Amino acid sequence: MMSMRLYQAKDYDDMSLKAANILSAQVILKPDCVLGLATGSTPVGIYKKLIEWYKNGAIDFSGVTTINLDEYIGLSRDNINSYQYFMRQNLWDHVNISPENTHIPDGTTGDVKGECLSYERLIARIGGIDMQLLGLGQNGHIGFNEPGTAFDKDTHVTKLSDVTIEANKRFFEREEDVPRSAITMGIKSIMQSRRILVVASGVQKSEIINKAFFGPVTPSLPASVLQLHNDVTLVGDAEALSLI
Ligand code: GLP
Repeated sequence: MMSMRLYQAKDYDDMSLKAANILSAQVILKPDCVLGLATGSTPVGIYKKLIEWYKNGAIDFSGVTTINLDEYIGLSRDNINSYQYFMRQNLWDHVNISPENTHIPDGTTGDVKGECLSYERLIARIGGIDMQLLGLGQNGHIGFNEPGTAFDKDTHVTKLSDVTIEANKRFFEREEDVPRSAITMGIKSIMQSRRILVVASGVQKSEIINKAFFGPVTPSLPASVLQLHNDVTLVGDAEALSLI
């Protein structure tokens, strides 16, 4: 049964502010909560707000644990395009979270299968995810669960679709540099989160947002599975929500 709260924000800044408010409320209500975090351009403004509020004393990350959705295979932690690097740059290095409480798959391991298994065990060990932040890929992927991924998958290795490689090449020098595969939490892992916070900005997300939340639930549009979750909040700006 879909149970979704929908907040329409004016623009990107307003979306970031509203979503950051929701995340910070989670941290204030449960100071030792587990936040599931996401990368991509959409959450950057949210992380900026959280850093600002940490700096002015409004929010404390000392008890918080974070666990990220995904990581490219083959990029080392210091590669500027790795999601590990992204998270340090955009959040972790600027707040009082303990490095040992920040988690992201290791994309350089020789044993990817083992890494996936231990990531699932880790999610269980830290008590599950209280609030998972999610962006949407242009093809409706969540994490790196590309269209066609079974809903019952947990953390696994995935090949990136051509659409995703095309969309993500903007961060790399050359298209050939974009990794072709990644480790991602599965749809099952994501759906086990107690609360889900989806953020979307810009007209290029409007069609996929409309289909994901108001169209049929189908693995060909991974984000549509969120209609089956009982606690989803969608914060979109006017452009992203323009078709609903
Ligand atoms: C990547 C990430 C996703 C993210 C998506 C959208 O592919 N794996 O987690 O949601 O990009 O990114 P953006 O926010 O830049 O549109």
